Amino acid sequence: MKIAGAKVLLTGANRGIGRAFVDELLRRGAGKVYLGVRNANSQSFPDDPRLEVIHLDLADTASILAAAAKAGDANILINNAGFMAGTGGIAAPSLDGARQEMEANYFGPLQLTRAMKDSPVFSSSGAIVNLLSFLSLATIPAAGTYSASKSAALALTRTVRAELKAKGTLVVAVLPVQVDTEMGAGLPEPRLKPSEVASDALDALEAGEEEVFPGQLSKNAAAGFKANPAAVQAQLSQYVRPIE
Ligand SMILES: NC(=O)c1ccc[n+]([C@@H]2O[C@H](COP(=O)([O-])OP(=O)(O)OC[C@H]3O[C@@H](n4cnc5c(N)ncnc54)[C@H](OP(=O)(O)O)[C@@H]3O)[C@@H](O)[C@H]2O)c1
Repeated sequence: MKIAGAKVLLTGANRGIGRAFVDELLRRGAGKVYLGVRNANSQSFPDDPRLEVIHLDLADTASILAAAAKAGDANILINNAGFMAGTGGIAAPSLDGARQEMEANYFGPLQLTRAMKDSPVFSSSGAIVNLLSFLSLATIPAAGTYSASKSAALALTRTVRAELKAKGTLVVAVLPVQVDTEMGAGLPEPRLKPSEVASDALDALEAGEEEVFPGQLSKNAAAGFKANPAAVQAQLSQYVRPIE
């Protein structure tokens, strides 16, 4: 799968890892990048005729369907946008954060992926890249409902991959540890650079790989998890929010 000449629909394009994807896609010669953004005023993008901003709120069905129709010629879908409330499980003041996480990290990408069914994404020239997390595999209780939404997104990724196998779509799971973005600001250092995540994800796409742990930090975490998943979970389980 080549990025050069490809048409891409990218969610959460305006900041963090999404903004790094924009630069990397342009550098690799993407023919068109539809920039999914929730707030029309929040973007600052290069002046490049290949870029087109489209409104996309993953918590709003009408917005998802309209965005999919506008980007109907895209052959690559990058489900990058995501949300982390980081308020624990029982410790959270209400279920609002958990619901927002499921909308942004699970239901939104599910609905957007379904809405692309008449596009070249669902073909042998198509690909889907899902930004998951190392927390899809192991849970930090302090961000436990986020971990749950990212575990759900991993199950969804496996499902979509199996369902689209006959069509020939490549479905790539990206599982980073903490990244230096607004979302990752409260997470421990060292953190991955957003550019590292975007670059390794697109390398995996171009190589036809189905799973990538971007950067050395993620690779080290993945090796630790493979060797002893219970020990990794026990370590992460130390990070708990008190119940008020
Ligand atoms: N940062 C980390 O440590 C880390 C680690 C592993 C995985 N990830 C994953 O990587 C992806 C990108 O994260 P990031 O670190 O770049 O986060 P970020 O800096 O917080 O950016 C999140 C992006 O998602 C968008 N977004 C959130 N909810 C949305 C919704 N309902 N509809 C449409 N767009 C929405 C935001 O738009 P607005 O600007 O409008 O809010 C923003 O563009 C996410 O899926 C995240 O879960 C991040």
